[in-house]
Amino acid sequence: MVQLALPKNSRIGKGKVFAADTSAANIRTFKIYRYDPSDGGKPRWDSYQIDLDDCGPMVLDALFKIKNEIDPTLAFRRSCREGVCGSCAMNIGGRNTLACTRAIEDVAGGDTVMISPLPHLPVVRDLVPDLSNFYKQYASIEPWLHTTEAEPKEEFKQSPDDREKLDGYYECILCASCSTSCPSYWWNGDRYLGPAALLQAYRWLVDSRDDATTARLDGLEDPFKLYRCHTIMNCANVCPKGLNPAKAIAEIKSMMVERA
Ligand code: SF4
Ligand code: F3S
Ligand code: FES
Repeated sequence: MVQLALPKNSRIGKGKVFAADTSAANIRTFKIYRYDPSDGGKPRWDSYQIDLDDCGPMVLDALFKIKNEIDPTLAFRRSCREGVCGSCAMNIGGRNTLACTRAIEDVAGGDTVMISPLPHLPVVRDLVPDLSNFYKQYASIEPWLHTTEAEPKEEFKQSPDDREKLDGYYECILCASCSTSCPSYWWNGDRYLGPAALLQAYRWLVDSRDDATTARLDGLEDPFKLYRCHTIMNCANVCPKGLNPAKAIAEIKSMMVERA
């Protein structure tokens, strides 16, 4: 699946080309979306040629090579380099994914690797999207344990069966790849919570230690927050952790029906 949607306000200007030593045998071009609001310039696509024989295997390695050796002005987010923190999510070869776990050789697009920020979000700079609304929506589902039980000395325990119910949900790293691949979220991102926040909502709804199920469902009972999911399934297709937010959303809808 290819998502070619660009960030908001993208009137593209003329980009620069950083050519490599043409004697190198294994050259690949990285065409990267550039935008710096402070210089008043238009967004543009800059091209960087890289010798893959002198670069690590992942897209994040190529971004570091560009930043460290060719163009220090390039901005992108990253932290763990291991697919754990979620900060390096971007659109690579038309697909939302993590730069640190995406092998360059697996990116579609022939000799050119196209890289842009996560689609349909405002851009802070270059490959850095503004995730303020995404985090606000995550906070709105109150992602912590609500319980009336007295605090135990060590931990709130669960049976192995109850713990298993969290599998497929607790692993979410909040990278936003799913929400920004969802057309429903593109058009209604201010009111529809999107697949990431809803998967997290379900993670707490299904937690045997949580007492706030009714209040949590009340909070989601809204024509936009939950019901703007139209089962498009891009979310499940792109999730770099192999999770299925669409399933979580369907489970929440079932809980709504059951309680009605
Ligand atoms: Fe990222 Fe997957 Fe979590 Fe969505 S469900 S935020 S794609 S880890
Ligand atoms: Fe969007 Fe996934 Fe639903 S792509 S419409 S959240 S199934
Ligand atoms: Fe942490 Fe890529 S740098 S997920």
